[in-house]
This record gives sequence, C-alpha cells and structure tokens, in this order.
Amino acid sequence: MESGIFITGTDTSVGKTVVSCAIASALHRRDISVAVYKPVETGCRNVDGALVGEDCKRLLEASRSSQAPTTVSSYLFEMPAAPIVAARAANIEIDPEKLIDDFEELTEHHDFVLVEGAGGLLVPIAEEFTFAELADECDVPVVCVAASRMGCINHTLLTLRALDDEGIDVCGYILNRASADGDDPTVDTNREAIAAFADDTDLGEFPYVEPDSLDNYDWLGELAEQHLKIDAFAPEDEAA
Ligand SMILES: Nc1ncnc2c1ncn2[C@@H]1O[C@H](COP(=O)(O)OP(=O)(O)OP(=O)(O)O)[C@@H](O)[C@H]1O
Ligand SMILES: [Mg+2]
Repeated sequence: MESGIFITGTDTSVGKTVVSCAIASALHRRDISVAVYKPVETGCRNVDGALVGEDCKRLLEASRSSQAPTTVSSYLFEMPAAPIVAARAANIEIDPEKLIDDFEELTEHHDFVLVEGAGGLLVPIAEEFTFAELADECDVPVVCVAASRMGCINHTLLTLRALDDEGIDVCGYILNRASADGDDPTVDTNREAIAAFADDTDLGEFPYVEPDSLDNYDWLGELAEQHLKIDAFAPEDEAA
C-alpha cells in the first residue's frame, strides 16, 4: 500500500478541501514531504483562457508542497458538474489510466500523497469508473468527510457502507463543523450517533473556522493536530 490518504466526502461542499488543507498543513509541520492531488477539478475559473482550480490552489498552498503546480490535477474543467459530465461538455474523455499514472508519479517523489476526490464517492469520472474505483486503484486508505448537519448520520453510514461493499480500505471518518452553530439541533449529537452505528474509526471532529481564517493554513494545521487523529494515517515516527 502507498503512503497517503484519499479524502472522499458524503457530498459536494462538505468541507473536503478545508479538512484536506488542514491535514496537509499538519503533515508539513511534521516535516513530511507531502504532495497533493485533485485528480479532476470542475467548476474552474477561466482566467484569460487558462483554467484555474480553486481546490488545487488551496491544497498546494496549504501543503507547501515542492511539486510543480501542473501536477496537482490531471484534468480541469470549467463546467461545475460531475467529471464525466463536465468532460463531455468539453469534448474530452477522461482516461482513468492517466489519473493512476499521475498519482503514482507523485508517490515516487514524495513521502505522502493526499488525494481529494470531487463530490462524493460514486461520482462518475468515466465509463464505469467512479471515485470509488479510483480510490481502490490508488491503494491508499480512504477518509470520509461529512458536514455535521441534519442528515449526516445517514449520508456518512451510506458512504462507509459503500466503501465496505467495494472492499476499499477505510482509515475512518471526520465530522466537519462546516457551519456556525445555528438552529440545527443535531450538531451536538451527530458524532455520538454515527459512532454508535459505524464500524470505522472516528478520526475526530473538525471545528468551525471563521471565514477570514480559512486561508490561514498554519492555523488549520494546528486545528488538525488538536482535533484529528493524524497518527492514524501518518505515524509521527515515520516522519522524514
Ligand atoms: N470547518 C469549517 N469551518 C468554516 N467553514 C467551513 C468549514 N468547512 C467547510 N466550510 C465552508 O464550506 C465551504 C465548502 O467547503 P469545501 O470547499 O472544503 O467543500 P468540498 O467538500 O471540498 O467541496 P467540493 O466537492 O466542491 O470539492 C467552504 O468554502 C467554507 O466556506
Ligand atoms: Mg473541494
């Protein structure tokens, strides 16, 4: 098995990038040579004809990775849709082999590769190829991120069950406080409720971060150290 993790989520916008940036920053603080990989990013900005992926940019900044910016992603698309849909709109067919090759290239030059999926686990990338197949091919344990809100018990258990059904190695799940405490009465009980039904490891609860601190990657890294079980996928004694 390669050294790294594959971050999936229960849905789009659940905080995969926020949590990935926090973990990447924490690994950097541990002197681990980390590379980040967002295999396909959709909904990219078109800046003078060049596509710019916000997730790619944030992941690279947070990790302080020495990798070339062009290696963070294999495909960028403008249309905000599932990769297979955005690719078809651009008259491109995503090649799963390229994704695996590009991932493996990163593993050869870095101690640890953090991969962030797009949307949830069964989002299609190409014909008969979803992020579940990609996670399996990358051969790194999967971490499932769920936004702590009404409905997340079901979404988290469904994703964990799908991973189990596919025989994919699961590291655990992270509950993310993606919203400020408001009217949702479930946020204080979601963690316990999921733990009571999940067979996988509770890797911690990532706290709510004020909007103006979301780009403070040192701070996100500190929060990851404080609130997440980083040792579950990056034991300290294995740091470079
Ligand atoms: N812990 C948090 N504290 C505060 N805001 C958060 C937190 N997590 C997520 N958010 C908010 O939710 C938004 C969506 O989070 P994020 O971009 O990480 O989702 P994602 O799962 O990576 O989405 P995608 O599927 O598009 O990659 C963020 O831009 C941020 O505004
Ligand atoms: Mg993201």
